[in-house]
Amino acid sequence: MKNTVTSFMAAKGKEKLSMVTAYDFCSARMVQESPVNAILVGDSLGMVMLGYENTLAVTLEDMLHHCKAVARACHDPLLVCDMPFLSYHISVEECVRNAGRLLSEGGCEAVKLEGGVEFCREIKSLSRASIPVMGHLGLTPQSVHAFGGFKVQGKSLAAAQKLLDDARAIQDAGVFSIVLEGIPQALASRITRELTVPTIGIGAGAGCDGQVLVWHDMMGMSPQKPKFARCFVDVGSAFKEALCSYDAAVKSGEFPSAEYCYKAEQEEEIAASIK
Ligand code: KIV
Repeated sequence: MKNTVTSFMAAKGKEKLSMVTAYDFCSARMVQESPVNAILVGDSLGMVMLGYENTLAVTLEDMLHHCKAVARACHDPLLVCDMPFLSYHISVEECVRNAGRLLSEGGCEAVKLEGGVEFCREIKSLSRASIPVMGHLGLTPQSVHAFGGFKVQGKSLAAAQKLLDDARAIQDAGVFSIVLEGIPQALASRITRELTVPTIGIGAGAGCDGQVLVWHDMMGMSPQKPKFARCFVDVGSAFKEALCSYDAAVKSGEFPSAEYCYKAEQEEEIAASIK
């Protein structure tokens, strides 16, 4: 069944939503063949695919490159693409142009941007251009330096109130869903109850309307696994074992054995005769 922004919104209070990041055709095809509701081409690709320390160096061209690959395999899950750092901060015009490119060139169906009440103007302009927007509040990674590190947000009364105010403001501005990242479980549950749009949690507990995980975290492919990320399969260890076996088989001459070689008639004579 095709997931859309309207099916996402209709799921609130009825069924939980699952979302996972993907950055390439191969992993997107696996999600396509699963019941997972949505794919996020997250700017986390800067860290897990490109080796940066944070998401700040990721460009719109990077996002387009990965989004196009994912879109070729993603048909049934809703496809959401992150707007990278500085692609929506400079002006509303640039924001709409950049988001429009992610839809028209990248092939996504919605964009995600980080921030609260201060981005209502951008969210309204995107909605006016019929570009669906997913919000993102809490431990928003593009604010890593403003936060003084990747730290849980919304722990004080004032910070919790600001997050609820932000959630209400961006809902009123037109987002169809909000990612809540790295905030206490009780706060995420309260925000979820207060909103009419679905919340998607990551490190925000079980009270959200859905969950999102980073592909590499859930597949055991991240060097450090965050506390909130459950590893559903340890593919990372299986890959390492496969590489060690391959290395040993090459070095011992055991690989490639006859079954992996091409044959031709009179191949020995031909090989011996060429000059
Ligand atoms: O970039 C990303 O992967 C994200 C998720 C962690 C929500 O924004």
